[in-house]
Amino acid sequence: MSQGSVSEDERVRVAVRVNPEISVRTHPKIATALKTSKFGIPAEEVFAACSYVERRGLALCGIHCHVGSQIFELSVFREAAEKMLRIASHLQQKFEIDFVDLGGGLGIGYTPSEKKNAPTPKDLAHAFMPAFKSARLKEPVKLILEPGRSIVGNASILLTKVQAVKRAAKNFVAVDAGFNILVRPAMYGAYHEILVANKIGVEPAEEYTIVGPLCESGDIFGERRLPPVERGDILAILDVGAYGFSMSSQYNMRPRCAEVLVSNGRAELVRERETFGDFLRHQIIPPRLLGFPCET
Ligand SMILES: Cc1ncc(COP(=O)(O)O)c(C=O)c1O
Repeated sequence: MSQGSVSEDERVRVAVRVNPEISVRTHPKIATALKTSKFGIPAEEVFAACSYVERRGLALCGIHCHVGSQIFELSVFREAAEKMLRIASHLQQKFEIDFVDLGGGLGIGYTPSEKKNAPTPKDLAHAFMPAFKSARLKEPVKLILEPGRSIVGNASILLTKVQAVKRAAKNFVAVDAGFNILVRPAMYGAYHEILVANKIGVEPAEEYTIVGPLCESGDIFGERRLPPVERGDILAILDVGAYGFSMSSQYNMRPRCAEVLVSNGRAELVRERETFGDFLRHQIIPPRLLGFPCET
């Protein structure tokens, strides 16, 4: 082996992201495999892309797709599996393919009716199976899935305190969390159940618009019928385990909240509440702006 060359197993492993061109019924911002989506390589160019990977001395290990998120229509996954396995079979004429990765996307329940109808991982497996059983592959391939939301989405609650109730053209409830903490309602018009945590069991009385403290009119969590809300009440926004904290920011100089793990009746702090000091931690002020003499 010449100096600088790499052995077979030292090669960087590369999978090729495919755009299977599948139209899904979900929010347009989380549909990722439309013909017009920015992700993936068109099916007809995948063979050439794999040749390129090998020509560059990289180790081709599989093909990958992710059709989108919050998908309830399981036929979409069957269609994706069929397309990806057809591509894998074609690639096997020249390449060794270890795996076909079909990404994530299994929908979860946010609304009460979605909660009743959300597909299970078993339903997902049943959707894929026929495609794998009928695939014409030279060699078997591993199936990889990347579930995200369906594992953690329903596992978290955002607790936020009512700062004010304003009666105007609407009844506004202003809370101390904003879209910097949970962006899904503002970004996708997403629905999250909202409860008054300290008034569980009290009959809903009025329609409220629940808003955050950011200087943006879109800083709204939703409109809900709730029990009478007063300053100091705690609202619980449900199902924020996925794309909640991970999409949070310090926008508008708002520190992010603490995270608490609750398990078997035990509550443990797992992330500290941010402080104003955290905003400055990574800032660098050039000395010239502090009035120190400049070198000429
Ligand atoms: C490549 C890829 N895999 C998996 C996921 C997880 O998707 P979900 O949370 O919908 O299961 C995503 C989400 O964007 C993704 O982009």
